[in-house]
Amino acid sequence: MITSITISAPAKVNLTLDIKGKRPDGYHELETVMHQINLLDIITIEKQETGIEVVTSSELVIDDETNLAYRAAALILEKYNCQAGVKINIQKNIPVGAGLAGGSTDAAAVLKGIRQLFDLPVDDRTLHEIGLALGSDVPFCLQGGTALATGRGEILSMLPDSLVLTMVIVKPPYQVSTAEVYKAFRLEQVKRFPDTNAFIESWCNCDMIGMCDHMENVLESVTEEQYAEIKTIKNQLVQLGAIKSIMSGSGPSVLAIFDQLAPAARAFEIIKKTCQETYIVSSYLKEGVL
Ligand code: C5P
Repeated sequence: MITSITISAPAKVNLTLDIKGKRPDGYHELETVMHQINLLDIITIEKQETGIEVVTSSELVIDDETNLAYRAAALILEKYNCQAGVKINIQKNIPVGAGLAGGSTDAAAVLKGIRQLFDLPVDDRTLHEIGLALGSDVPFCLQGGTALATGRGEILSMLPDSLVLTMVIVKPPYQVSTAEVYKAFRLEQVKRFPDTNAFIESWCNCDMIGMCDHMENVLESVTEEQYAEIKTIKNQLVQLGAIKSIMSGSGPSVLAIFDQLAPAARAFEIIKKTCQETYIVSSYLKEGVL
């Protein structure tokens, strides 16, 4: 009988992000391409007699019952009437409040991990439903890879494997509230919309230039207005050789796509001097990682 399990929880970026309108339930109708990257939190779940305990390596993560990983554990253990408890250790590498789904991916890893650890009879559809009750990005984090997400973000169409992207991610030294960004969103203030269909066609054809031509994020119209630095970082990354640079999710992280490793490595070294939370990453490939 296994008593503990360790899983990696990859961050995501949005390669496109479009909003089609406001829904009656208060959420926004999304059309976004999500893509996992190899910036990973490492989650270890240990069985314990009772109760849920969360320990994290980051001071920025609240480790009480409001933590999304804690809530994920509580939800699944209660639903399946598990009497036992768990201790969850989160080695936090993904920046917090960054637009990279750090909390959602930890929650997804906890759901998968507890299913395996307790051998629970939960099918993927049910896990997806539990995930959505925790947050709009959790279903994608459970599924992984690259997907077109619509609805709240939970209606997922898998996209085929394509290019392995080399990216530099820059997280400015502040966090933004996703709820606040969506609340301030006004369609009439958007200057550039992505062409999602054209993006997907380029993605399926492994056409990096075509793909980059159609990458946009409409939420930049909110977060860039509040933090002018985001635009400066995007411009800097393009000057340093990125083919394209956009904000991820509700921000403030910026992602930049490079067609070669050398300029990406140089951009990483230069930007890291002024912005500590800078990363050089690539697409997440399940095989070979942990
Ligand atoms: O689903 P989640 O709790 O992660 O979303 C955080 C906030 O982002 C929501 O409370 C909502 O204000 C906003 N949101 C939205 N439309 C979506 C996803 C999130 O308005 N499709």
